[in-house]
Amino acid sequence: MAAKILDGKTMSEELKSNIARRVAAMREKGVIPGLAVILAGDDPASEIYVRNKGKGCEEVGMFSRTIRMGADVSQEELEAEIQRLNEDPAIHGILVQLPLPGHLNEEAALSRILPEKDVDGFHLINAGRLMTGAEGVIPCTPKGVLHMIRATGEPLSGKEAVVIGRSNIVGKPMAMLLLRENCTVTVCHSRTRNLAEHTRRADILVAAVGKARFVTADMVKPGAIVIDVGINRVDGKVCGDVDFDAVRERAGWITPVPGGVGKMTIAMLLANTADAAERTLRHA
Ligand code: GUN
Repeated sequence: MAAKILDGKTMSEELKSNIARRVAAMREKGVIPGLAVILAGDDPASEIYVRNKGKGCEEVGMFSRTIRMGADVSQEELEAEIQRLNEDPAIHGILVQLPLPGHLNEEAALSRILPEKDVDGFHLINAGRLMTGAEGVIPCTPKGVLHMIRATGEPLSGKEAVVIGRSNIVGKPMAMLLLRENCTVTVCHSRTRNLAEHTRRADILVAAVGKARFVTADMVKPGAIVIDVGINRVDGKVCGDVDFDAVRERAGWITPVPGGVGKMTIAMLLANTADAAERTLRHA
């Protein structure tokens, strides 16, 4: 039987209506949640992601500001801009779109963002909080993925979870979140031997590889929850890291691309920004 579809469009719309209500309540108290996005350089994929983030803000009644910096921006200029945004009371969330141009130090830039304005959850403090189980900002894509996995209604405790990819943006925080749900977590990556032997054990399989249709049906356990984080372009068409048509005949649940995880990432960014704005209201 074909897998049930985890529909990111519907799920993200539900999340956004809830966020829009929270934003309306804050506006009544005179606070308009504000997100600043720094885009350095002219990566075409980043352009699209940043535009969609701005659109998302508009949809829920938030204010957004995109700060464009040239591909040759210096580390000092970038950090000075982050500092200005840290000090700006109209800005509740700051996001530095990655990847940055190669000459810049990503970790140093991300660590300049005040942890409470770090709506990506990439600051070392927030990464540490996730690692230890303390309350902090959870990175948007893994947070969206967990929401989708929970939407299956299946108990997660004790499940075998396999994450393919070990990036700081997706793979590592995803593994931490699944561990927090009491899954047994395996993180696979480009040096993993016998990848399919790992993935075939997975009750939950998260693919964050960046290679079109990398996960084939023979790599999937029948009935598994398969989450596709990939956004690849093949012949002008967007497709994920999972061979959707074949895998959907074997999996129990699957996310489509487009219309899956990507939409959830933006919804969670808006949720993190609303959280940050609410925190400032509580401490006002
Ligand atoms: N580049 C790809 N994904 C992301 C993300 O979630 N946040 C940021 N800041 N950059 C990205």
